[in-house]
This record gives sequence, C-alpha cells and structure tokens, in this order.
Amino acid sequence: MTADARPVIIYGGSFDPPHRGHLALARAALRQLRPAAFYFVPAFQAPFKDFQPLPFSERRGMLAAALAEAGLASRPEVKISSFEAGLKRVVYTYETVAHFRRLHPGAPLYFLMGSDCLADFRRWRRWRLVLRQARLLAGLRPGYPGRAAAEVPYTALKGRFPEAASSDLRGSLFLGEEPAQLPGAVLARIKSRGLYFSRERALLRRMINPRRYQHSIETARLAVSLAGGLGIPAQKAAAAGLVHDCARDLAPAALRRGAPRSAPLEHRLAEMGREAPLLLHAWTGAELAARKLGIKDPEIAEAVRLHATGAPGMGPLAKLIYVSDLACRGRNFAEAGLIRALAYEDFEAAFRAVNYVKLTHAFSGGGWVHPLSVALWNILQEKKRGS
Ligand SMILES: [Fe+2]
Ligand SMILES: [Fe+2]
Repeated sequence: MTADARPVIIYGGSFDPPHRGHLALARAALRQLRPAAFYFVPAFQAPFKDFQPLPFSERRGMLAAALAEAGLASRPEVKISSFEAGLKRVVYTYETVAHFRRLHPGAPLYFLMGSDCLADFRRWRRWRLVLRQARLLAGLRPGYPGRAAAEVPYTALKGRFPEAASSDLRGSLFLGEEPAQLPGAVLARIKSRGLYFSRERALLRRMINPRRYQHSIETARLAVSLAGGLGIPAQKAAAAGLVHDCARDLAPAALRRGAPRSAPLEHRLAEMGREAPLLLHAWTGAELAARKLGIKDPEIAEAVRLHATGAPGMGPLAKLIYVSDLACRGRNFAEAGLIRALAYEDFEAAFRAVNYVKLTHAFSGGGWVHPLSVALWNILQEKKRGS
C-alpha cells in the first residue's frame, strides 16, 4: 500500500451494541480530519464461563446497520475491520495500532476514544508503545478535562460528546426497553435477530400470563441493578430473573410431569408434588428454561430451581434471584420495599430477611414447609452465632 499523507483513524470498542455516541464521535472525526481510512475495530469478546457474549458477526451486523442509517456505510473510507475478532483472543491496543501502522506505513495514525478511556489510558498495556505509533484522538464529554485530566498527549475533537455506556444499554435491552441512544436500525436488527434476550422474552410471553411476565421483568430489573455490586454479570442476572417463573402458570399435573426425574434427596420432589405442587414450578422451571428457551447455564438453572425455597449453600446468582423475586417492584407487601432498599446497602442482610419473610409467611399459613427453607434458616442462625 502506498504512503498517504492523509490520516488514518482507528476506532476500537466492543460495539455491543453500537449507539449514537459512537456515531457522533465517528462523524466528528470524519468531518474534522478527513481521513484516508476510518476503521471501526470491534474487539474480540472473551466468552465467560458457560455463557456466550454476542459473536463478532452479530456486532458487525448491528454496526453495519447503524452506519447505513447514519449515511456512513457508502463512504469508501469507512470500514469495519475484523482484525481483533479474527485473532480470537483479547488483543491489546498496541497490537492493533501496530497492525494498522504496517498497513499504512506513511500515514499519520490516530486512535479514537471517548474521554473516559483517556482518563485511564496510562493503565493500558504498553501504552507508551501505542503513543509512539499513533496519536490519541478524543471526543470529550461535557465538563472534561476536569481535575482528573489525562496526563497523555491527545488531539481533542471539536465539540462535546455525551458518553453512553454500552453496558447500561445492554441492561435496558435485556429488559425489553428501547433506549433512545440506539439507532432505529440497530433496534430493528436486535428484534429481528432475537438479540439481548428478545427471542427468549417473546417465547416467555407465550408461557406465562401478562402479570407474571411483568413480574419477571421487574425481578430481572432488580437483579440487574444489584448485579454489578455483587460481581455478577448483568447478562446472567437478567436471564435468571426473566425465566425464574417460566413454569409458574402450569397446572399441578403438568408441574409434576415436568419436574426433573432425579434430584438430590433433600429436594423432596415427591413430597412437594403431594404437599405443595406449586413449589415445583421452580424445579420444573429450570427444566423448561433449558428445553424451551435454550437457557442451560448451570448457575441460572440453580437460581431458577432455588428461587422459591432457598437452600443452604446457594451460589451468588441464586441468592440474587431469591432476593430480587421477593423484593422487586410490584410486590404489594411492606417488606418488599424495605428489603429492596436494604439489598443495596447490605445484600447479605437482605438475603436473611427474605428467608425470614418467606418462612413467617409459610408458618402463618399453616401446612407443610419445605425442609430446604428451614435448613437455610438454621444455617443462617449458626452463621450469625459464629460471626
Ligand atoms: Fe416463583
Ligand atoms: Fe417470581
């Protein structure tokens, strides 16, 4: 490739999903620098345990739709690069910059970013090497640079660029919201491709009544908002919250039929089927989520299975759904609001409170109480004495 004095711009990110903030930055960079080439470089997304993030092909598809809607797709200098995704591993910026340096040996190279990235740029792997090969190009958010200004040289684009976080947008999308920061073409593609659980939500709507569906959304909403503070991926919190009651509207006979054939002895499935068949919706729900919705993640399955009774030794996601199910918006008893507020302050205290509320409710109603709930109560008392 021949040397070109016009600049080349690299714009890296997850683009999961691409939003108006990305487009505003790209438009300003194109207008102000008139580059010979502008590369969007979607990063490789490492799959985390048992759960797949959106593959590159879907993120590229959304990005292409966003660029088409913004009138940028027809510009010959605008390209979507598969360099990072093609390596199938986490790629550091210095490697990406080196790649485009080789591709455009004589061109001034710019690496485009928002001001948030700029602020922690010096924590990036081999950041000095990045600076030797490319200049940073930043779109600044209103009020930046403040006191925490970056101590690295950069070129600022003219204008101010409010920053939208893809992680917040994903949280909204999981709940079926349509954030205004997303271009219409991206939203349409998300729906038509069933992304961000839109496929699963559409199926779920057919499995439970509208009130139950709303309750599932609210459970997922609370779970997602608590997840970050507990180190739980929002994606798992949303999925578990959405599907936890997917079997709740089945008749007792269907609940019995759908329950797992084998379970540890302490689950007392046969006894439950006789004494409290409605409780089976948790166990049957985990089976149904796997079979009908394709959600087979073991931590999500555990969360669905134990959301009604609780159990000693529940994992973090199961505890999160146990709390979110009882304390979400739409629950019309006084404790729900109190426990919801408590969950943000002291999650473990909220968890104990849920067990207390469920047991007092069960005892006051009389009848059979699931031994797992009682066992959880006892374990929590022992822990309290031990602490
Ligand atoms: Fe339930
Ligand atoms: Fe529920």
